[in-house]
Amino acid sequence: MKALILFSSRDGQTREIAACIAKRLQPQQECDIVNILHAQAIDWAKYDRVLIGASIRYGHFHPNVMKFVKQHRLELRQRPSGFFSVNLTARKPEKCTPQTNAYTRKFLRQSPWQPDCCAVFAGALRYPRYGFFDRMMIQLIMRMTGGETDPTKEVEYTNWDKVERFADEFAVLPGKAH
Ligand SMILES: Cc1cc2nc3c(=O)[nH]c(=O)nc-3n(C[C@H](O)[C@H](O)[C@H](O)COP(=O)(O)O)c2cc1C
Repeated sequence: MKALILFSSRDGQTREIAACIAKRLQPQQECDIVNILHAQAIDWAKYDRVLIGASIRYGHFHPNVMKFVKQHRLELRQRPSGFFSVNLTARKPEKCTPQTNAYTRKFLRQSPWQPDCCAVFAGALRYPRYGFFDRMMIQLIMRMTGGETDPTKEVEYTNWDKVERFADEFAVLPGKAH
């Protein structure tokens, strides 16, 4: 049996975190990494645990993440499962847990599925890769929240040790009888 790792990523950071988790789980646990936006026909019989990771853009997860969760709530509830969110607010230590990160709290409040483990990871700030509008907007948000404002900078805030610890936590979630 395999672990299914689904991700929703705009600029690739959440995909990289998903890949890091898969690397940590293997070879003991085989993994498939799938973009949740392209996850139409999943053969759930192949998977005995499932993880969903999603990033925030302008205050929201991609709407397809909640759509997927609602559509597959039964399959998600039947297996040991985890969820992680990725955003820049989480670069602040007081906003990097499921209880203290507003986006993650809201998601868990609205979700019909409650994951068995959950984490919040700080993402990356990559000004040179953004278009004009996004660069201006992120600069404004960073100015307001005391973050990096130099538009030539790329900053990765992700704590990879925290990602690996979360992978270890996910790996040992006990199975569920169904
Ligand atoms: C256009 C844009 C909007 C963003 N909006 C938010 C936001 O509202 N709150 C936040 O905490 N982070 C925000 N971020 C930061 C992203 O969540 C962060 O860059 C993350 O690493 C993106 O992950 P991804 O590459 O997997 O999409 C935004 C980033 C971009 C480029």
